[in-house]
Amino acid sequence: MNAAMPTDKPAIRVSKLSKTFKGCKALETVSLDIAPGEMVALIGASGSGKSTLLRHLAGLALGDDGTGSVDVLGTRVQSRGQLASDIRRTRSRVGFVFQQFNLVGRLPVMTNVLTGSLGRVPLWRSLTGRFTTEERRLALDALDRVGIADKSWTRASALSGGQQQRAAIARTLVQKAEVILADEPIASLDPVSSRRVMETLARINTEDGVTVVVSLHQVDFAIRYCPRTIALKKGAVIYDGPSAALTPSLLRELYGSQAEELGTGVQGSASFVTGLPSGLALAANA
Ligand SMILES: Nc1ncnc2c1ncn2[C@@H]1O[C@H](COP(=O)(O)OP(=O)(O)OP(=O)(O)O)[C@@H](O)[C@H]1O
Ligand SMILES: [Mg+2]
Repeated sequence: MNAAMPTDKPAIRVSKLSKTFKGCKALETVSLDIAPGEMVALIGASGSGKSTLLRHLAGLALGDDGTGSVDVLGTRVQSRGQLASDIRRTRSRVGFVFQQFNLVGRLPVMTNVLTGSLGRVPLWRSLTGRFTTEERRLALDALDRVGIADKSWTRASALSGGQQQRAAIARTLVQKAEVILADEPIASLDPVSSRRVMETLARINTEDGVTVVVSLHQVDFAIRYCPRTIALKKGAVIYDGPSAALTPSLLRELYGSQAEELGTGVQGSASFVTGLPSGLALAANA
């Protein structure tokens, strides 16, 4: 569907982006390139700037005046604190997944997922909820791919957290997002649901070539599912490289006592990684 683009252009380019909230530096001269088809983890302790960075990538927040830029899919999102004028088109190509799912609980899963096509369908049709057979088929396919086709007509609020998150991911499939930005999508889920959500994201990344950036509190999940990790501390990038290299000792070096908050070493990240069936990212890291 969204095969990786045959181009040298990065899917995401951030250049010298800074963000200051009332004197507090939430992002500190962040620069990074993410190639089309990569699956990248964004890690860092609470307050390190993960959500802020993701929001800037989607053009939901603006960097400090006069500095920095963000380009996504070869199109300017923002530059020097100003939003690009054609941001709507770029936004329609970027799917956002939130920790709290952002589904309308009283509506069926199907309807929630169909809102993914709102960037493409005329306003009058979306307001009246009239979707074409083709759109419905696309939604059902998406629900099937995330493993909850049997829940299509269930109210979203009746699903478990993990199922709701997979519905939110299905919505980005219907949107035909070429980039998925997921802000702590597993933070409120149990370990089994967390794995299923991460597996779903990893599968979409591998099968469709969709670029995925996912912020995570737990390094274990970054190591297991994301070949590359970008680590933030106080708004600055302090590590950008293979997730497999993030040993407990490197994490302690990078984060000091904060390393514990990332669930590393102390809880035995190695046993987590080796104690389960081999994951996609592990193979990629090998
Ligand atoms: N709207 C805002 N107004 C003021 N300060 C903010 C705002 N949003 C974020 N901040 C500050 O910016 C810094 C980075 O916050 P951010 O939410 O990006 O961190 P995070 O890594 O996502 O943390 P968490 O793991 O808790 O979600 C923090 O110091 C936070 O207090
Ligand atoms: Mg956050």
